[in-house]
Order: sequence, then structure tokens, then C-alpha cells
Amino acid sequence: MKHSKASASQYTGGRLAAFGNWIDDRFPMSKMWREHVSEYYAPKNFNFWYYFGVLSMVVLVIQIVTGIFLTMNYKPSSAEAFASVEYIMRDVEWGWLIRYMHSTGASMFFIVVYLHMFRGLMYGSFKKPRELLWVFGMLIYVALMAEAFMGYLLPWGQMSYWGAQVIVSLFGAIPVVGEGLAEWIRGDFYISDITLNRFFALHVVAVPLVLIMLVVAHILALHEVGSNNPDGVDIKKLKDEDGIPLDGIAFHPYYTTKDLVGITVFLAIFAAIIFFAPEMGGYFLEHANFEPADPLKTPEHIAPVWYFTPFYAILRAIPNKLGGVVLMGMAIVVLFLLPWLDKCSVRSIRYRSTTFKVALFSFAISFVALGWLGLQKPTSTYTWLSRFFTLVYFAFFILMPFYTRNEKTKPVPDRVTYHG
Ligand code: HEM
Repeated sequence: MKHSKASASQYTGGRLAAFGNWIDDRFPMSKMWREHVSEYYAPKNFNFWYYFGVLSMVVLVIQIVTGIFLTMNYKPSSAEAFASVEYIMRDVEWGWLIRYMHSTGASMFFIVVYLHMFRGLMYGSFKKPRELLWVFGMLIYVALMAEAFMGYLLPWGQMSYWGAQVIVSLFGAIPVVGEGLAEWIRGDFYISDITLNRFFALHVVAVPLVLIMLVVAHILALHEVGSNNPDGVDIKKLKDEDGIPLDGIAFHPYYTTKDLVGITVFLAIFAAIIFFAPEMGGYFLEHANFEPADPLKTPEHIAPVWYFTPFYAILRAIPNKLGGVVLMGMAIVVLFLLPWLDKCSVRSIRYRSTTFKVALFSFAISFVALGWLGLQKPTSTYTWLSRFFTLVYFAFFILMPFYTRNEKTKPVPDRVTYHG
């Protein structure tokens, strides 16, 4: 009798394929892979700015994994929280690395998300048909802010405590229900052990779940309509005889490979920060937070972490507390409305008017300036500067329907411009 000798790889390959088929008969594994990866056709002209979506996903995974390990040794009680973080830093094996990855990850998250959002502004990625994709993105941003704010209370340092005290008390400015609302959030009359416990539950379980679900919705919405690109050209308009966009390339292997390069560079920068400047001169980990929380000692200068300071500057620009809170909220609400405020049909900044370019540039400057001002002591000069930049910030949105309605745009090409 003659046996055909199959090589080991053929053997395992055959078995693996059979296992794959077994799964496919019961779950749409290959179908999903094709739909979202190997047969998802993305424009071939993605540039530097298109790295930040995948990088946001990478940071999200880093935060979840390091967060799980931190939770193994962290104690969410006002008596033990601060010391448990010190214990993680000094005694837990590799604890310092896990903690620095998580604290640096928080700032890096906002850096990549801000660049990701700015890309959307430059290339008009929020415009039809991507309005819902943008709204999901904004919901992610709000959830991310809540996540960062609650996480910051957990080390129970001076800035954790007093930062939370200031921000939660802002709710007290709301007429009639304000005080009750602030008390409901804290679960107490002041920031206490009870507050710490609930912030821990929300930071570790509830908000991450919401974030993950929103990111899935974000990607599904993206794949439903297809990616925009630096030319703002709709690549689905021109397809070959197989129905594949002429300017599209398969996400896998082309963009998976390209993204790996971006991820590698990002991780190198991330590692350099963790190993050489984890506190980033007090910007990523504030100096005052190396002192345990003391409810009887208010720090001389309270400032949130850098990623919140643009909004903090807007809050402080207004002398009236309620007015400041409302304006701060509006600064975020207007971002949601962007798809309906911009009346120009041309997406990419490459083909838009000088007026729009100047407006976007002024907006970006005002955001950075407000971020810097939010970190400073509120002297009268700085307060006036904050008022000025708050005005620029809102003017960008409020005047948008007017300066975009009859915009002098350049002709948009039929195909993407790509110089490989
Ligand atoms: C955890 C946070 C986020 C993750 C993981 C994420 C992920 C992604 C990914 C992977 C893409 C496709 C790749 C790319 O275009 O870069 C994308 C596209 C997009 N995202 Fe996000 N995103 C996040 C937050 C946001 C936020 C806060 C906004 C805006 C408010 C936003 C708006 C958009 C838009 C408009 C697109 C389409 C861009 C285009 O096709 O030109 N995303 N996102």
C-alpha cells in the first residue's frame, strides 16, 4: 500500500483551513476580515495625518492593558490610594514601568486624538456622508475627557483632590439643581472616600466599556461610507470593471504594513518619554501630585493637566461662574455641530479659500494659546488674553456659515493626486 506523504505544513495547513471553514460555517470570520481588512479599499494617497487613527487604537489598547495590571495593586480608598501608588512605583516588579506607561499613555492619547481631529478639520472629513462618523468621534472625545478626569483622582495627590474639587463644584453653578447635582456626583458634601470609590468603578469599568463600544461604532461608520483623503476626492465615483475604486488600495497588506512603520516610530517616542522624561517637566505628572491629598490645605495654584487647559482658560475668562461653565460646555458642543456649520462643498484645505485657511490657522493658534494660558496664574493680562483667544475660538465656528457659504475654491481633481 502506498501512502502519500504530506509535509507537516501541508498537514497543518489543511487542518487549519478545515478549522477555519468550521468556524466560517458558524461565525462570519473570513467575511469580516474581507469586508474590513483585506477587501476594504482605502484611498492610495493617505499621508502622515492618517496615522493618528490607528495610533489612537494602539494607545487605547496600551491604556486598557496597563490599567488592568495597575488595578491588581492599586487600593481605591482614601486611606491607602496614595501609598498604594508609591508601592507600585517602588516595590511591585516592573510596577514603575506599568504606571509610567499608563500616565504617559493618557497624555499621548490626547496628543494623537487632537492631531486626529485636526486632520478631520483640514480635510473636511466631517462633511457629508461622514457626519455620524464625526459625531461618534466627538462622543469618544467626551468619554475620553471623563475617563481622564476620573483617572486623575485615583492617585489621591494634592492636585487629584483639588482638581476634582474645583471641577465638580462647577456643577454647583447650575441654577436650582446645581448643588444637588454636585453632591450626587461626589456622593458626599466634599470630595471623599466615597467619591474615590465611585470614580474608580467608572474609570476602570464603565467608561472603558463605553469607549470600546464607541470606537467600534466609529470604525463601522467609517467603513460604511469609506475613508476620506487629503484631496477630499470621493474615490467611489470611479471604479474598475470589478467594482474596485481606481484610486483605492486594499487596506491589507498595504496600509497594515504602512501603519506598522508609524506604530514603530510612535512606540520609540513613547518609550523615550517613559524612560527619560515620564513627568515631562510637570506637564504629564504635575509636581503637586507627589504630595498626598490634604483636604485642609489648598494648593497655591490649581491647574488641570495640559489637555484640559484650553477649556479651563475659557472658564476663567468669564467673570461669572455660571457664564464660564456654559461657555466651556459650548466650546465642546460647537465641535459637534461642525458638519452643519461648514457650508462649503469642497472638503480638502488644498482646494479651499485663503479665508478658510486663515480661519483654521487662527483657530488652531487660539486653541494652543488657550492651552498655555490655562496653565498660568490668572493675572489681569492673561485673563484679557484668554478673553481674546476665547473670542477667536468661537468666531471660527459662529462665523463659519458666513465665510464658507460662497467660498472661492479651487477646482477639485477627479482623481487623487499621488506622487509615489
Ligand atoms: C479612541 C479614539 C479614537 C480612535 C481609536 C479612532 C480611530 C479611527 C481610525 C482607526 C480611523 C481610520 C484611520 C484614520 O483615518 O486615521 C478614524 C477615522 C476618523 N476619525 Fe477617529 N478615532 C478616535 C477618535 C476620534 C475623534 C475624537 C474624532 C473627532 C471628533 C474622530 C474623527 C474621525 C474622522 C472624521 C475619521 C475619518 C477620517 C477620514 O477618512 O479622513 N475620531 N478614526
